[in-house]
Amino acid sequence: MRYIGNKTKLVPFLLQTLEELGLQGGVACDPFAGTASVGRALKSAGWRVHCGDLMAASYAYQVARVELDRTPGYSGTVLGSAGSRRSNSYSAVLRVLEGLPREPGFVAEHYTPHGVDGQKHGRMYFTAENGAAIDTVRERISAWSLSGAIDRREEQLLIATLIQAADRVANTTGVYASFVKSWQPNATRPLRLRPIRPTVPPTLSAVGSSAYRGGAEGLLRAIGTVDLLYLDPPYNERQYPGYYHLPELLAQGWRPPPELRGKTGLIPDDDLRSDWCRRGRCEEALRSVLDVADAGHVLLSYNDEGLLPEEKIESALRESGDPDSYRVFTRGYRRYRSDSDGPNRRYSGNAVRERVYYVRGK
Ligand SMILES: C[S@@+](CC[C@H](N)C(=O)[O-])C[C@H]1O[C@@H](n2cnc3c(N)ncnc32)[C@H](O)[C@@H]1O
Repeated sequence: MRYIGNKTKLVPFLLQTLEELGLQGGVACDPFAGTASVGRALKSAGWRVHCGDLMAASYAYQVARVELDRTPGYSGTVLGSAGSRRSNSYSAVLRVLEGLPREPGFVAEHYTPHGVDGQKHGRMYFTAENGAAIDTVRERISAWSLSGAIDRREEQLLIATLIQAADRVANTTGVYASFVKSWQPNATRPLRLRPIRPTVPPTLSAVGSSAYRGGAEGLLRAIGTVDLLYLDPPYNERQYPGYYHLPELLAQGWRPPPELRGKTGLIPDDDLRSDWCRRGRCEEALRSVLDVADAGHVLLSYNDEGLLPEEKIESALRESGDPDSYRVFTRGYRRYRSDSDGPNRRYSGNAVRERVYYVRGK
């Protein structure tokens, strides 16, 4: 999924940074996990990884990509009739979901142009067919979960699969802050559920990785001492729930139906808004996370156009750890863009310098 701040392309740089620092496995924490791309890479490199994020959509990705060590068996009564428990593979379950008779529901009503039963909200995020397909799949996942036919991890893997599938047919330019006013070619393709492969732990030490939904401090308090803390917080004023409200809706479900706001149908998001996206609060947010953390080594990814000036990052990190160990690693890369330059933008062109700040714990 295209995600603001997704570090997939920076993974080689991050792994190389760890190598330069001589860090080679142990327990790691990634409390701003987003798509879980870094958590997954760390787990593949032999770390036991505890991920977390405020967003429920991220939680589904964390379970799918980091917590699960293998594809679950779906051995409940998903395909068989009630009472005949038989084993069903993930891909067979996906085929069942794709083949269900479509029933338009909440997504079709609010996020497709014609709505349901004459209720037109005019939002053009999905075609009527894909809106109904998304409703049908999400409702069935909820029903299986409520009846106990699937467990938490099986449920979250299916939700992540659906979010990814819906993202491929969303009529947006990458984020959900607006929809395009004519159908784009990807949006007219039918919804297809493609399997997500969990990360097999390469060593026993990587077994026991976990997912968490909530603020960074809560996760850090829950897991205690770690060898490596990797911080990848938001770096500008764009609050994630406003840019990804549809993945979040698919993750949270709609029981009870949320009250929607505005032209894009935003869902209630007070508890998802982050101090890292507020100029006056982001320094305190950094200091608070560092205060709670008990980590042997801290790495912070932060963009050079971010709200926090480098001097503030430096002083917070030096004060929280061994001041002489402080280092900055830098690499240029091409930005992910969903919009174009204009007079109000603070930059032009595609080049960004991504920095990784390091300090050893006290
Ligand atoms: C830059 S993105 C992380 C991207 C991620 N590394 C990836 O590769 O996809 C920042 C993430 O921090 C989350 N977030 C913001 N404030 C948070 C907080 N206080 N605690 C936990 N997560 C938070 C956002 O929901 C968002 O997913």
